[in-house]
Amino acid sequence: MNAEIRSADLPAGDPHAADAPAMDARAPDAAQPLIRCEALAKRYEVGGGTVHALRELTLSVNAGEFVAVMGPSGSGKSTFMNLVGCLDQPSTGRYWLAGEPVDSMNRDQLAAIRNRLIGFVFQQFNLLPRTSAQDNVELPLLYAGVPRVERQARALRRLQQVGLGERLDHHPSQLSGGQQQRVAIARALVNDPQLILADEPTGALDSRTSIEVMALMQALNREGITIVLVTHEADVAAFASRIIGFRDGRVVRDAANVPHDAAAQLAALEPEQG
Ligand SMILES: Nc1ncnc2c1ncn2[C@@H]1O[C@H](COP(=O)(O)OP(=O)(O)OP(=O)(O)O)[C@@H](O)[C@H]1O
Ligand SMILES: [Mg+2]
Repeated sequence: MNAEIRSADLPAGDPHAADAPAMDARAPDAAQPLIRCEALAKRYEVGGGTVHALRELTLSVNAGEFVAVMGPSGSGKSTFMNLVGCLDQPSTGRYWLAGEPVDSMNRDQLAAIRNRLIGFVFQQFNLLPRTSAQDNVELPLLYAGVPRVERQARALRRLQQVGLGERLDHHPSQLSGGQQQRVAIARALVNDPQLILADEPTGALDSRTSIEVMALMQALNREGITIVLVTHEADVAAFASRIIGFRDGRVVRDAANVPHDAAAQLAALEPEQG
């Protein structure tokens, strides 16, 4: 049941694959923003021209915020998420995560801060096929060198938290899309992150399942986890308490939002489960 997972089985580019040492999570410092970007820019040289994926972005996100990032295709949303997620380095500008200067970190340091502070959720779930929900969720702990018994207990707790305590042995192909995304959220949570970065987490889900996932995100946010989530759907962004709009690599909108209550919307769809 708990087949050893080999790093060769990993999907390419999986940020959970980083071989970083395990470190203790630290409490967020209320005096400083969790995310602080100053004139952060990302440029690509393509065919003799320059693509300005992100132009001199200055922005802060405090611990405990729930931010939705919106904008047309190609406006720089994923570029922003990759920089914030310490998956990529900026061309110019500065970035601090929990007060630590990320822009001057090397690969190993980036992997370490990522594993310590961030959980990632993707549109296509990025779960290992032919691998149980339990083992998928244990994976980041395996990389962090956590002993097996503790790995199993922590993964179980997170799967129970996302409502999948009865599906531990199911492979991704034996789960619905919403269940697969909940496994991915459990995996993102298993390292006790301060920040969840989700790039279109509801992009592959129907509207009802999207609301379920957003209800889970809101519950996590109420527990104090900071959430930054990219979405194309205004209905999804409406669950966030701040909405940032991108266009052509720039922020063109940044406003507080009175969030809709996803659990209440779900209850209205299913009165018997209210
Ligand atoms: N590796 C790269 N090389 C060259 N250009 C790139 C690269 N990655 C992204 N870009 C360009 O940077 C710009 C921003 O891309 P990005 O992926 O951040 O957009 P996005 O807002 O996430 O779009 P979508 O909604 O389609 O996911 C686009 O013009 C894209 O073509
Ligand atoms: Mg994108």
